[in-house]
Amino acid sequence: MNITFRLNGETVALTNVAPTQTLLDWLREERGLTGTKEGCNEGDCGACTVMITDDTGAQTLNACILFMPQLNGRAVRTVEGISAPDGSLHPVQEAMITHHGSQCGFCTPGFVVSMAAAHLNGRRDHDTELAGNLCRCTGYAPIIRAADATAHSPVPEHMHDQAPAACPQTVAPHAQPENSDELAAWYAENPDGTLVAGATDVGLWVTKGFRDLGPVAFLNRCSDLRGVTVNDDQVEIGATTTLSELEAAMEPLHPSFAAMIRRYGSVQVRNAATIGGNIANGSPIGDGPPALIALGATLHLRNGSERRSLALEDFFLDYGKQDRAPGAFVERITIPRQTDRLRCYKLSKRFDQDISAVCGCLSVRVEDGLVREARIAFGGMAGVPARAAKAEAVLLGARWTEETVQAAMTAVADDFTPLSDMRASAGYRLETAQNMLLRYWLEDSGSLASVLEVRS
Ligand SMILES: Cc1cc2nc3c(=O)[nH]c(=O)nc-3n(C[C@H](O)[C@H](O)[C@H](O)COP(=O)(O)OP(=O)(O)OC[C@H]3O[C@@H](n4cnc5c(N)ncnc54)[C@H](O)[C@@H]3O)c2cc1C
Ligand code: FES
Ligand code: FES
Repeated sequence: MNITFRLNGETVALTNVAPTQTLLDWLREERGLTGTKEGCNEGDCGACTVMITDDTGAQTLNACILFMPQLNGRAVRTVEGISAPDGSLHPVQEAMITHHGSQCGFCTPGFVVSMAAAHLNGRRDHDTELAGNLCRCTGYAPIIRAADATAHSPVPEHMHDQAPAACPQTVAPHAQPENSDELAAWYAENPDGTLVAGATDVGLWVTKGFRDLGPVAFLNRCSDLRGVTVNDDQVEIGATTTLSELEAAMEPLHPSFAAMIRRYGSVQVRNAATIGGNIANGSPIGDGPPALIALGATLHLRNGSERRSLALEDFFLDYGKQDRAPGAFVERITIPRQTDRLRCYKLSKRFDQDISAVCGCLSVRVEDGLVREARIAFGGMAGVPARAAKAEAVLLGARWTEETVQAAMTAVADDFTPLSDMRASAGYRLETAQNMLLRYWLEDSGSLASVLEVRS
């Protein structure tokens, strides 16, 4: 494929780029820019963090699972471009030295890029901003102190990148459509092709699975598939809306959903991963679907010029099987506007950057002491994200009391037969899922149940 982008301030135009060449490999092997490190090669460690600027602003991404065509029309800044062109250090680099933020130094380039991007964007929540950067030897306290120390330093001029015009794609069979119509036409012709949205799943098929993807279409330039529109009766979420964008949109509407997204991967992963990809991959442990199902979401699919809508829970037929015909893609998701009653509980071994063992999302509407509506959805409890239909039935029409909730908790055992795996045993999954109902009731009754809120 042919692409144009800026690299540390210089325009780069490439022809015949392999669609699945990663930026990390290209930087290190073809440009000799070895400051960007390879740690895990699967998006987990942040050693390969780069800063990408486009018309949505500057953000960090993991270069190991970023394919070269995704750079078309964007600007890249690697650790080599964080110091000024005259060689003077960026304030975060100075601070890392002053505060002893580096020992072996392997993780340091990734940290420096994340810190410089957060500094550029005025982000001060360093625990969040740096959760995707792992350090094995220094310890995080000196690094956080270094980040804190630069809060009031001016942003160096060279950090303000301008993205160039994208290079039009004419290299069949691959494509980088500009809108949903172009994507629909390409997919109709290449129903066996691979769609790449954020590549946080597909990237690993290549770097870990060494898979040949066949014809590839990159969705990142389909402008009409991206973004969240809120109107009086519904919220419309485009398929290529990133998790970072969804987090910002959900904050005022459903803050518990936003708080859960904050624990989805890392900043670098959330800046890449799309909600369409999180649904289309059909994962039983994806965090987006349970929350959207609890909100009563409708999924809108497009196949050529035909469109079809279905309740999101009906899309997931069985493990690895979705109700999606060849050539059909996710165009958008809609959720009805509603008074916020949603609570999302993500249970994982680590607080940050971990896949859920169980993800429970609940929304219960109570009027005059009686349950009028109950939507309870779980990830991690079956081969697909699914509603707890029997527990919901126990709640519907019943008095909203602890006894009723206990009865619904018992019914969860009839709804699901979870598996044991490395993340959790079946018994643990069932017990924690049941306890999520109790937690919802306790929170609804005014008790504090989040470890982040409880203070001695
Ligand atoms: C380090 C790391 C941490 C992660 N943490 C989490 C986590 O905490 N919670 C979680 O839920 N997931 C997590 N994931 C998984 C991943 O981020 C999500 O599943 C992600 O949302 C996938 O979106 P994407 O845009 O990157 O999809 P891609 O990788 O681009 O695509 C995934 C699949 O969806 C298809 N696809 C993409 N868009 C469409 C569309 N519009 N229509 C039809 N098909 C489409 C692709 O062809 C592919 O089959 C993590 C991944 C990594 C690497
Ligand atoms: S090498 Fe670990 S995130 Fe890229
Ligand atoms: S300084 Fe050694 S891994 Fe961070």
